Amino acid sequence: MKEKPFRIAITGKGGSGKTSITVLLAKALIENRTTKLLLVDADPTHPHLCDMVDLHPHQTIEKIRKNLIQSVYRNEKVLSKIAQDIDFEVYNAIQESKHFSLFSLGQPEGPGCFCPSNTILRNVIDSISHDFDVVLIDCEAGLEQIHRQVLKSIHFLIIVVDLSMRSVETARSIKSSAKKFTNSQSMGVIVNKSLGDITPLLNKIEEFKLSLIGTISDDPLIKNFDLMGKPLIYLPETSTSFREMKLLIDRIFPS
Ligand SMILES: Nc1ncnc2c1ncn2[C@@H]1O[C@H](COP(=O)(O)OP(=O)(O)OP(=O)(O)O)[C@@H](O)[C@H]1O
Ligand SMILES: [Mg+2]
Repeated sequence: MKEKPFRIAITGKGGSGKTSITVLLAKALIENRTTKLLLVDADPTHPHLCDMVDLHPHQTIEKIRKNLIQSVYRNEKVLSKIAQDIDFEVYNAIQESKHFSLFSLGQPEGPGCFCPSNTILRNVIDSISHDFDVVLIDCEAGLEQIHRQVLKSIHFLIIVVDLSMRSVETARSIKSSAKKFTNSQSMGVIVNKSLGDITPLLNKIEEFKLSLIGTISDDPLIKNFDLMGKPLIYLPETSTSFREMKLLIDRIFPS
């Protein structure tokens, strides 16, 4: 791997399997054991990554932001102290486990849009990733975070598609936006939940000049984990989807 930290964003249509793919990739990297890994749960609408890796940060960007706003309203802090504190709080928000660390955008508790949190995330992504070899960012569905340049400094973009032409259309839009709003030179598509003859989908991917990383099968074990509410990080090493993900690693990481 040339770049360290090597930042990978996982994007795609809603429900295509971005978070599951993030977890499978994390598992494959953990098995390598040579990687200092940071996972970023960057989805403010469906922050499921924390559940899927069974780690729950006590602090999130949303909570930090809320506390700071409250302390400003109460006139508790001068501006210079706020700037110092936000750095400290952000670093403290990185939750560590034995094999990886996790940082979460969090979910807004009240009304309002996600723009302020996305702005903070854009500004801290570089600094929080410095102590790590690989950073996996599980993104919100669609294009919003790319357009807001939250993913500006990534090195590789994974676009997850499922067995629908709409997800390939979304992949095409993501590719075109990523060229404008990120520095990433490399990107590729993972076809997730693959089952049966997917030739029409592969033809569309080729027609749109999207580069194909590979496919991950529709895995009954993933569905079963979901049904039972079990964190996907505990998926057995023998599972089809995990074995397939291990084969894709070399196509994602430059040697
Ligand atoms: N390879 C797979 N085989 C079977 N089921 C899968 C597979 N990948 C994902 N799923 C299932 O598809 C559903 C959506 O997966 P996931 O939450 O990872 O998608 P997502 O793109 O992150 O969704 P969102 O847009 O809500 O963040 C889940 O029920 C998950 O268990
Ligand atoms: Mg998700």
